[in-house]
Amino acid sequence: MTIIEQLKKLEQESIERKVPIIGPEKAKWILNKIKQHKPKTILELGTANGYSGIILASEGATLTTVDTSPHAVQEAMKNFKEFNITAHVILGDGVKYVEELAQEKIQFDMILLDFANKEYIKVLEPCLKILSKKGILIADNIDLPGCKEFKERIQVHPKLDTEIITIGNGMSYSVFK
Ligand SMILES: C[S@@+](CC[C@H](N)C(=O)[O-])C[C@H]1O[C@@H](n2cnc3c(N)ncnc32)[C@H](O)[C@@H]1O
Repeated sequence: MTIIEQLKKLEQESIERKVPIIGPEKAKWILNKIKQHKPKTILELGTANGYSGIILASEGATLTTVDTSPHAVQEAMKNFKEFNITAHVILGDGVKYVEELAQEKIQFDMILLDFANKEYIKVLEPCLKILSKKGILIADNIDLPGCKEFKERIQVHPKLDTEIITIGNGMSYSVFK
């Protein structure tokens, strides 16, 4: 059974409880990118119940994931345990966390932005400070109005090669040059 199939129950529960997870189509797309690039370290902003985190860590990468909601963090930890995922789950503000990491020498091979859309633009440059060379930056819900400035910027950014993926309300996929 694939990891997407194993997540069917959590997917159904999320729909019933209106937890806004990425869902199977985007999950499958991200999983293919993980298989292609084989990131060793992944940072996620916006944990929710851990659905996407389980996908991100499913091929063996070390996952760090951040959420402002204590309830989300608790649920994610429970779900990670169920799926044997070892993750650093951080309760806190994603913007502050990335700004702090940008002061250190920490590097991630992949970053997924799936949190407050209007904050994407604030974390763009700090994320580029902690992204490895040829690292991948993926942002979800890119067609939402809050992401407008971010979406425009990543498409003309001199350090990024960006593609827009038209699944649902869109995702962006940028490779750090
Ligand atoms: C769309 S959900 C994440 C879905 C998850 N990535 C998945 O697909 O399974 C967005 C999450 O971002 C969190 N969030 C909102 N503002 C945040 C912030 N400033 N920093 C970190 N997390 C935040 C919310 O609590 C919510 O759980």
